[in-house]
Amino acid sequence: MTLYASFEGWMQTVQVHVEDALGEFLPQPDVAPAKLHEAMRYTVLGGGKRVRPLLVFAAGGLFGAETDVLKRAAAAVEMIHAYSLVHDDMPCMDDDALRRGKPTVHVAYDEATALLVGDALQAQAFDVLSRDYSLPPGRLVSMLRVLAGASGSLGMCGGQAIDLDSVGLALTIEQLERMHQLKTGALLRASVMLGALAGREVTADERVALHAYANAIGLAFQVVDDVLDATADSATLGKTAGKDAANGKPTYVSILGLEESQQLAEKLRREAHEALAPFGEGAQRLRQLADLIVQRKA
Ligand code: IPE
Ligand code: IPE
Ligand code: MG
Ligand code: MG
Ligand code: MG
Repeated sequence: MTLYASFEGWMQTVQVHVEDALGEFLPQPDVAPAKLHEAMRYTVLGGGKRVRPLLVFAAGGLFGAETDVLKRAAAAVEMIHAYSLVHDDMPCMDDDALRRGKPTVHVAYDEATALLVGDALQAQAFDVLSRDYSLPPGRLVSMLRVLAGASGSLGMCGGQAIDLDSVGLALTIEQLERMHQLKTGALLRASVMLGALAGREVTADERVALHAYANAIGLAFQVVDDVLDATADSATLGKTAGKDAANGKPTYVSILGLEESQQLAEKLRREAHEALAPFGEGAQRLRQLADLIVQRKA
């Protein structure tokens, strides 16, 4: 995986690594309780853009991390993300029947199974990451803590709670940014940090630069998600388009309008690039991922 391979070729290589890792690290479908394990695999395998794993590998490449550690970290963060989607789609949250082009778990199975798939994936994520034996134990504990912090009530879950409490409210732009930084930004930031921590020592200056990059792309990702919800169709997205307006969710589009939201995403893309300046050529994959996050169509 040298820097000289094309971006598309690099992405494919990472996606194959991640698909293999997920297939290996999830319980096999014939292990009891088979319905739960089958539903976990239905949720996680064969779909999704794998943006978080790509960030893990891009940051890991910059810090010289080993592929086997990155596979564990990438699989762990993708399991947390997949669990968050299963719960996000449930009738008590966004009530969506389509995800990654397939019926959602509570539709394909039932609500109780969807709840348990999320619970089990969350535990599995930490189990998978904790089984790396190559890193110094202190480093691994730091990584587990990064993932836990990003997943919990001060991270993704906290953002989801604010999202649900905000239905029908006119949030200020600061409140909206806070919600987005938590519900989506937290796991994207964690992905960057997990990749970096899997490699050589991160200096204080490097940490500041990585945080600035991760904050910019974390927010940009959800700004674009809001724009796509308002502009793309369900077949392209693989999930129900127009859900935010239908559910009365405050979004960047509802508060800033479409054009300003698109301008904000572009501004964040530039900020992400600026933050990476100290890393030079080595940060090329992170730059390309910032571009992908802002320019994506699904
Ligand atoms: C969708 O995430 C939910 C948000 C956090 C905005 P992705 O757009 O990364 O979904 P997949 O993983 O590609 O399905
Ligand atoms: C979801 O945000 C963020 C999560 C933590 C899952 P959305 O509700 O906007 O995600 P989509 O649009 O359903 O994928
Ligand atoms: Mg939601
Ligand atoms: Mg949703
Ligand atoms: Mg959305």
